[in-house]
Amino acid sequence: MDINLIVESISVLAHGVFLTLSVTLLSLVVSFILSVPLSLLRASSNRALSGSVLAYTYVFRGTPLLVQLFLVYYGLSQLTFVRQSILWPFLREPFWCALAAFSLNSTAYTTEVFRAGILAVPRGIIEAAQALGLSRLMQIRLIIFPLAFRTVLPSYANEVIGMVKASSLASTVTLLEITGLARRMVSETFAPYEVFLAAGLLYLLLNFIVSAFFRMLETYLAQSPTS
Ligand code: ARG
Repeated sequence: MDINLIVESISVLAHGVFLTLSVTLLSLVVSFILSVPLSLLRASSNRALSGSVLAYTYVFRGTPLLVQLFLVYYGLSQLTFVRQSILWPFLREPFWCALAAFSLNSTAYTTEVFRAGILAVPRGIIEAAQALGLSRLMQIRLIIFPLAFRTVLPSYANEVIGMVKASSLASTVTLLEITGLARRMVSETFAPYEVFLAAGLLYLLLNFIVSAFFRMLETYLAQSPTS
């Protein structure tokens, strides 16, 4: 094992960190925004609404993310209406394809995570909020969602960590994020062991930061008044 090569690989692969973080964080933002209403629909007693959301989460959790990414990257060009749409210049780019596939996939997982949190809010608390005369929207905003989010914070942290790692799949559609750069470097150095070890260390570092962030957030939320 060549330690110098590992150190050199880390400095080369570090150039991919920005792309890894961009595609991961953007898809997490999209999935967070979509999952809030979807999880409410999923937890609702309306069977048609909750069933449609269930169908969506079922498909996107039940098929490999790699397959979803390939379907977006290779499949969209088969659809004439997509090729004629104004989004086409974006959808041809590997970055936007990865963002689309990751967002759809993460939304499915996050919706189920949030739904678990919503169902865990004690009935009595919701009744108390109703007794105070809060509108349904205010109940959701002030009581249900903050409590639900705190309950599922550890599971949500898992989702974020999972997406940081899953972003490596973007290398299969030519994106030069950490793994993409690693694969290119392997083809130049013929030293897969050192290069992928360096890539692994970078992901570990990123997820170390993610875990620390969620630990801090947990401590902070445990001290806030809505406990
Ligand atoms: N290996 C998993 C898959 O193929 C990765 C899914 C990660 N997605 C997530 N949202 N945590 O589907």
